Amino acid sequence: MTDPATGRFITLEGGEGAGKSTQISRLGEWLRGRGHTIVATREPGGAPGAEMVRKLLVEGPAERWDGTTEALLHFAARRDHLRSTVWPALKRGAWVISDRFADSTVAYQGYGYGLDRSMLHKLYGIAVGDFHPDLTLILDLPVEVGLGRAAARRGSETRYEGLPKDFHERVRAGFLGIAAADPGRCVVIDATRDIESIAVAITETVIERLGA
Ligand code: TMP
Repeated sequence: MTDPATGRFITLEGGEGAGKSTQISRLGEWLRGRGHTIVATREPGGAPGAEMVRKLLVEGPAERWDGTTEALLHFAARRDHLRSTVWPALKRGAWVISDRFADSTVAYQGYGYGLDRSMLHKLYGIAVGDFHPDLTLILDLPVEVGLGRAAARRGSETRYEGLPKDFHERVRAGFLGIAAADPGRCVVIDATRDIESIAVAITETVIERLGA
């Protein structure tokens, strides 16, 4: 938990094509309307150095990195993102909304690639320390639907989308497992609904959990 005198850290998680970026702009607008200063950011990336690491992670062939190398790159980018963007913004009292955070490493590199999850928790301690999101919204939808949506906006960032469907099924199950294990922090949002209904579910959750 961040200090209540400072901002709040909200993360949005989910598989490919879950609609996170649309919902982040909706949530940001809504929170601005309630008088909060908003910093919308993303992982991998969200700071100049971390964006350089992002290019290494999301472009190129799927077999470019082994799982451990990939996890190290994600945590290196994450530490830079926290130090350069997230922590200074929270200190200023802003509410930070991040498109993905460390649950994505557990879901993709842990459940997806089968990396040892205790190793990932150790890396979390090294790179992030005793800092956690105040609220994590997990946008859940069937893999075929998400991959179909993601294909419609495909650019050069195809590295993860190119992985087989069963990989993405494990990622989905991973996010649901993370939510079940940490219900104080995580809320699963049904992302099969229309944009408006999802936005309402998210604002209701933010009011309930954080007082907004
Ligand atoms: P995005 O498409 O949501 O911007 O995310 C880029 C890709 O990076 C996405 O396929 C998920 C993947 N990813 C991981 O595998 N591990 C991580 O820790 C993060 C943050 C993202």
